[in-house]
Amino acid sequence: MNIVLTGFMATGKTKIGKSLAELSGFSLVDTDALVEAAAGMTINEIFSEYGEERFRELETEASKKAAELDRAVISTGGGTVLKKENIDALRKNGVIVNLAPGFEVIRARAAAAASTRPLMNGQSMDDIEKRFNERKPFYDNCDIKIKVTNEKTPSEHAEEILEAVNEFLKNNKR
Ligand code: S3P
Repeated sequence: MNIVLTGFMATGKTKIGKSLAELSGFSLVDTDALVEAAAGMTINEIFSEYGEERFRELETEASKKAAELDRAVISTGGGTVLKKENIDALRKNGVIVNLAPGFEVIRARAAAAASTRPLMNGQSMDDIEKRFNERKPFYDNCDIKIKVTNEKTPSEHAEEILEAVNEFLKNNKR
């Protein structure tokens, strides 16, 4: 059984995932890192040389590869939810946990986060907010939703997630 973290760019999936892996003893896998390793290029390079569509193909391959794991915390790229086949694959042996911040959390982090994120770089705050709102129905395709705030540390979020996952598994098979 894996724990799969979904959520918008700069929500804290990587930091929270790291805490959650430490807390649970699960390994930590990041689909963006799998994509970069497979391509031998950074996300920025993949977008600028081959475009978003090619990135999305690599992301699907990475999601399916990660879905084969067991006892892993799988931190997904923010757009992984856009293709149903990605989430369907990850859900077979995983609990899908959506990390849901209010937009104010993203607004505060956007400037620092933009340089490694082609879909934030050079975008106005209005454009980022529009994408944030358009993505909401895709993030709602989850088993557990966890509110993310700046008031809680990654390890506090991780504790909350682990409790919610254990509760979920009492009533649901994975
Ligand atoms: C993307 C999110 C990024 C990365 C790529 C596209 C998105 O991952 O996969 O830049 O479409 O939301 P993070 O969520 O880790 O920033």
